[in-house]
Amino acid sequence: MSSSPKRYTITAALPYTNGPIHIGHLAGVYIPADIYSRYLREIERDVIFICGSDEHGVAIPIKAKKEGTSPKKIIDKYHKIIKDSFENFGISFDNYSRTSKKIHHETASEFFTLLNEQNKLIEKTSNQLYDIKENQFLADRYIIGECPICQNLESYGDQCEECGTSLSPTELINPKSTLSGSNPVLKKTKHWFLPLNDYENFIKEWILKSHKKDWKANVYGQVKSWVDNGLKPRAITRDLNWGIPVPIEKVKGKVLYVWFDAPIGYISSTKEWAKNNNKDWRPYWQDKETSLIHFIGKDNIVFHCIIFPSILKASKKYILPSNVPANEFLNLEGSKISTSKNWAVWLHEYLKDFKNKQDILRYVLTANAPETKDNDFTWKDFQARNNNELVAILGNFINRVTVLTHKYYNGKVPKIGLLSIIDNSTIKSLREYPLIIGEKIENFKFRDGIQEVMNLARLGNKYLADEEPWKIIKTNPDRVKTIINIAIQISCCLNVVCKPFLPFTSKKIEKILNTENKSLKWNQIKKTFPFIEENHKINSSELLFEKIEDSEIEIQLKKLKK
Ligand code: MF3
Ligand code: ZN
Repeated sequence: MSSSPKRYTITAALPYTNGPIHIGHLAGVYIPADIYSRYLREIERDVIFICGSDEHGVAIPIKAKKEGTSPKKIIDKYHKIIKDSFENFGISFDNYSRTSKKIHHETASEFFTLLNEQNKLIEKTSNQLYDIKENQFLADRYIIGECPICQNLESYGDQCEECGTSLSPTELINPKSTLSGSNPVLKKTKHWFLPLNDYENFIKEWILKSHKKDWKANVYGQVKSWVDNGLKPRAITRDLNWGIPVPIEKVKGKVLYVWFDAPIGYISSTKEWAKNNNKDWRPYWQDKETSLIHFIGKDNIVFHCIIFPSILKASKKYILPSNVPANEFLNLEGSKISTSKNWAVWLHEYLKDFKNKQDILRYVLTANAPETKDNDFTWKDFQARNNNELVAILGNFINRVTVLTHKYYNGKVPKIGLLSIIDNSTIKSLREYPLIIGEKIENFKFRDGIQEVMNLARLGNKYLADEEPWKIIKTNPDRVKTIINIAIQISCCLNVVCKPFLPFTSKKIEKILNTENKSLKWNQIKKTFPFIEENHKINSSELLFEKIEDSEIEIQLKKLKK
């Protein structure tokens, strides 16, 4: 990373409130964003972590129709479920807002008005698909048909979820209305377009030229293919009655396109945060020394790398993202996660079956994150990673250290004596971990980062296994004091580097080490030693992780197949 920014604005994609969230969302967006934000707070940076519910778009009325209720009831219901899931999994947003709030309607309308008044939009009348039975234009997800790229027969009008291509409804082969099932007709209607073609050079210079090295290859590649195909004007309004009304007098029955208003939701959520905390929101979006980072899934790349930046650029005052570390997709037991086929692990359901075991899922989803390619979540792997890594390596080390400290010294940290060559090299490599792990996190390599956390626990286990204090407790008690003291220092360091990844576990370790109020900071590790003074009293052991039995996994597999 280049020289340190003054502050960070970190955003995570606003989830649609048309259903609960599942492990794919967590792995692709919210866990990496949370690790990154927590880490930056640990190293005492000025950071805000921003999110909220995406409550517009056709997805909402469609879901309302399915459940026989109103869009308002749908957004209220899922906003609550989603918000609770995030809280339960320790996703540490500084603000979680909703796009149905007044502050957001105002902010999005202002953006539209500004662009319109500065003649940065095009008004155009064109033919759009229309459902005669329902008397309604068919935008985005109101249309399904065959994808012209991958021949998926159930592609939406705005995007094919199979191949990820972004489409317009008239490109679909054999389009059908999802409202009435009928074949739509073409009808003229007026809309406002953002002339993306005017921003082609800007995108080329900004991303293709300057971010070839520091942006992820998957992100860069998608942007390049969009630009290579030529950017075209894109409609930013829709004929719908759900959304933010087009803020022009006399225009009725038209709303802003959800992908126009939703990213602006990051800004309105920041405004809301600032208001609640007596802060100024502007530096977080308008100061060049702020680093803006968007965490998203790969299906959101075009919106965050081309469309939203063009809007920000057009408005002149705003900064552009310094990185958009989009992830690929997570599959489940070999198949694509699908809400409609109920092929998913829903977070609120996971918590019922694995109460207080959020960190297992956080661990598995990070260790197996779809960072560079699509990846597969399997319950067998979940069980194996818990039993062989969390229980056998991390949990085991902390437990051994605490048990031995209590057995030999009643829980009091013993005095450190003369250091052997192995002690010195152990301490030296131990103190390098925060730097190594920090570097991984700063480069969005969370899989590697958590791997290094586990390596530190391995180092601890190896140290104890090599030194065998239990064999020399009678013959060389002073040496044992030194060994246990060093093992405690390793636990302490482990706790610090665990924090961004496994916040619940780290809380438990802190409780065990009795360092809750004087917890060590990330950057102190290379400056101070020892981290815990002799005679400090630690608490008795508490098991960090438990084995997961085959029967528990079988229940989950059965649940899926139902
Ligand atoms: N709701 C969208 C999705 O789930 C993401 C919106 S991200 C935002 O794919 F930038 F528009 F907010
Ligand atoms: Zn397709």
